[in-house]
This record gives sequence, structure tokens and C-alpha cells, in this order.
Amino acid sequence: MPINYLHSLFHRVEDGWDPITNDYASSYTELAWNERSPKLIEDLEIRLGGFAGKRVLDLGGGPGQYSVLFAQKGADVTWHDVSREYESITRERAAAAGVTLRFSLGYLEDTRHFQEQFDLLFCRVCWYYARNDRAFSRLLYSLIKPAGVGYVECNTPAFSQPQGWRKLQYWLNSYLWFKVGHPMPPHGRIARLLLRQRVNHMTLDYSSPLRDIVIFTKALPQSALDHGWTTSKDHASSLSNPFRRHLSHDELGDVVQDRRSPAPPQDQAAARGDTGQPGR
Ligand SMILES: C[S@@+](CC[C@H](N)C(=O)[O-])C[C@H]1O[C@@H](n2cnc3c(N)ncnc32)[C@H](O)[C@@H]1O
Repeated sequence: MPINYLHSLFHRVEDGWDPITNDYASSYTELAWNERSPKLIEDLEIRLGGFAGKRVLDLGGGPGQYSVLFAQKGADVTWHDVSREYESITRERAAAAGVTLRFSLGYLEDTRHFQEQFDLLFCRVCWYYARNDRAFSRLLYSLIKPAGVGYVECNTPAFSQPQGWRKLQYWLNSYLWFKVGHPMPPHGRIARLLLRQRVNHMTLDYSSPLRDIVIFTKALPQSALDHGWTTSKDHASSLSNPFRRHLSHDELGDVVQDRRSPAPPQDQAAARGDTGQPGR
């Protein structure tokens, strides 16, 4: 039985377990709120066609710095996290900002109670707390409405620079997909896993070796396309079959906009290699 699942059986959120201490929550909150990115909000706003009335899930929402911003833009925001400390901080900050959020306390995988899918699934700096990378990619995808947007930002092993026994922890996850604790996923894994699903647009921001940012649009079901529905031209433009699961290297180069600063021509093929093929 996976070790992190066993751990969760003995550390139950409903019994008051919280991995975040009061001191840590306070210091991270200041940092996180000061580092909010207006550019990120603008980018998502364009992809969503505005936030007003959109359903947003801030998965692993922490101190709520983005939940509150989304709500200020008019979104119907659900904050979900394992930490009561962060919940009370987010409640205070939301009240101070004059917005209302929905709150949901639980492990990342405890999402069965969400009755509807979301227009935006926002998962920032918490993917690595999931128990299983493959299962988590499927869960994230399932939480998004057709034509909805997923935003995943996660640090890479280069950020963590594991030493000692943690090198083994990272090796187990990177090569055997076996998770003990919370090793960060190897660079490129998140995008490759999500490309196993039906996505018709994906943008990768690999501008820093310390983190992967993956933004994607979920494809409409085939039945909707058969009846003439389409996603925005921009999102659907470069695929003849937006449901293709296994994209070749060259096709992936077309589909994926890699937002690194332009590389010299001889580096571009290598750059596309980084974006990877499903299952590599
Ligand atoms: C680094 S913080 C990121 C918070 C926020 N998303 C941000 O962008 O600042 C990681 C968050 O994941 C939450 N977390 C850690 N383990 C979790 C788990 N197993 N299930 C749900 N949330 C978890 C923590 O409580 C914390 O809020």
C-alpha cells in the first residue's frame, strides 16, 4: 500500500491534523501575498474570457492570495487545502477584502464532494503533495469542465536540491514512480502526464529550471464537436484532431508554446525535446 496513503489514514484532517504550524503559516502568508502576480491573473483572465461568474478551484490554496484575487474579479471561488491554519488566515483575508469564498478542508485527493466541474483549476506549488503523480493528473483533469482551463505550477528537483537520503527519495519518484514523502516531480513530467488526456492547447513556461508551469485547455467531448461546437480559435487552431492522445515530437512542437526566451535554431529541437512525449 502506498506509504503516503497509509500516512493519511493516521493523520486525519477531520480529527484536527494540520501539517502547518501557526508560525510557518504566518511567515509564508506574508511572502505569498507580497509575491502575487498581476500578470498571471491577466493571463488567466484572457484565457477564461473574464472571471465574472466563472467557477474556480484553488487546489492547495494555502493562504488564499489567489483565491481572494479571483473572487475580487468576480469568480465563484472554492478554496481547498489540508490546513486549518491557512483556512483561518484565508477567511480573515477574504473578509478584509470584502469577498466571499467557499471553503473545503481536506487532502488534495478529497474532492469527491465537488458536485460540478470548474472553469479554472488552479494548482500552484502543491502538486508534489499528491500521493501519486499519475492518479493526480487524472484527478485534476476530471475536475475541469470541457473547454475549461488548468493551471499547474510546481517546483522541480533542481529547486529542492535533495541531499543525503532525500536523493533516494527523489530517485524512487523520478525513475520508479514510487513516492515516499513529497519529492518534486522531474522536469517535464506534469506536462507529459496531462498530455495523456484530451487537451487541445497547452502552454509551457519552462523559463526557470526551478519550476514547471503548465497551462492547458481541456478538449470538448467528441459529441459536442460533432454538433458544431468549438473552443476559441486560438485554442483549437493547431490541431487537426484535438483529441489526439499521442502527439509526435513535431506535432507537440506545434501544439505547445514554449515560453522560454527564443532559443538559437540548433537549440529549438532540444527545447522541444524537453516538452516531451507522453509517457517518456
Ligand atoms: C507551498 S504551499 C502553496 C500554497 C498556495 N497554492 C500558493 O500558491 O502559495 C502548499 C500548500 O499545500 C497544502 N498541502 C500540503 N499537503 C497537502 C495535502 N496532502 N493535501 C492538501 N493540501 C496540502 C499546504 O497546506 C499548503 O497550503
